[in-house]
Amino acid sequence: VSVFENPTAASLSVAHRIGDLIKEKQKNNSKAVLGLATGATPIGVYAELVRMHKEEGLSFKNVITFNLDEYYPMQPDAAQSYVSFMNDHLFDHIDIEKENVNIPDGTLKLEDIPAFCLAYEKKITEVGGLDIQILGIGRTGHIGFNEPGSAPNSGTRLVTLDDLTRRDAARDFGGKTFVPTKAITMGIGTIFKAREIILMAWNQKKASIIKKAVEGEISSEVPATYLQLSDHVEFILDKDAASLLT
Ligand code: F6R
Repeated sequence: VSVFENPTAASLSVAHRIGDLIKEKQKNNSKAVLGLATGATPIGVYAELVRMHKEEGLSFKNVITFNLDEYYPMQPDAAQSYVSFMNDHLFDHIDIEKENVNIPDGTLKLEDIPAFCLAYEKKITEVGGLDIQILGIGRTGHIGFNEPGSAPNSGTRLVTLDDLTRRDAARDFGGKTFVPTKAITMGIGTIFKAREIILMAWNQKKASIIKKAVEGEISSEVPATYLQLSDHVEFILDKDAASLLT
């Protein structure tokens, strides 16, 4: 667990680690494979990566990305889609090749989802696995959209969103009834295979779930507690999110 004075300092540190990985891989002529999250938490990380691209010439030509999740159903050009989020905050401002960007497809027919999910897993494996997976945490304890009840070995799949998750998303959609009930998410097992996992959380409203995730009993009731079983996970917190830790 690392505790920073504020979200900005924490975000800069995560962005610089990602930048260092990208540069290291460039030196070896290999690709950096990043697992990315959406939501309010990583916005500062993406802003710093964009700044590094614009001001320091950090190139993303050797970067492959896999996003954790997407609502289902969801059109990519909808304002609330995670495709739009990633384009707005990162991809439209850097030199990543479009074919290196992977986000679960919210437009699939229901019957095509299992094959898509298997292919998503296979693609991650084929490019050598995730070097870094960044995560936020939901107030249900979800990572990705692995809600309470998710199995530790779960893979990419269609899931049902928790009511609290839908309430938390209500503002983006103009009311809870407009929030999709489902999502396609990488599984806990998918996340676990990343060589480095960074979970970020800021603000007082995350303090109680962070306490459970870091110090609570490992249980599917709080999926983030599974991270306690990994020896390559780091919780990057601001003072407020860490305030209930003993
Ligand atoms: C987003 C995701 C979610 C969020 C979590 C926290 O891709 O997988 O697990 O990280 O819901 O969201 P924010 O950062 O908005 O508090």
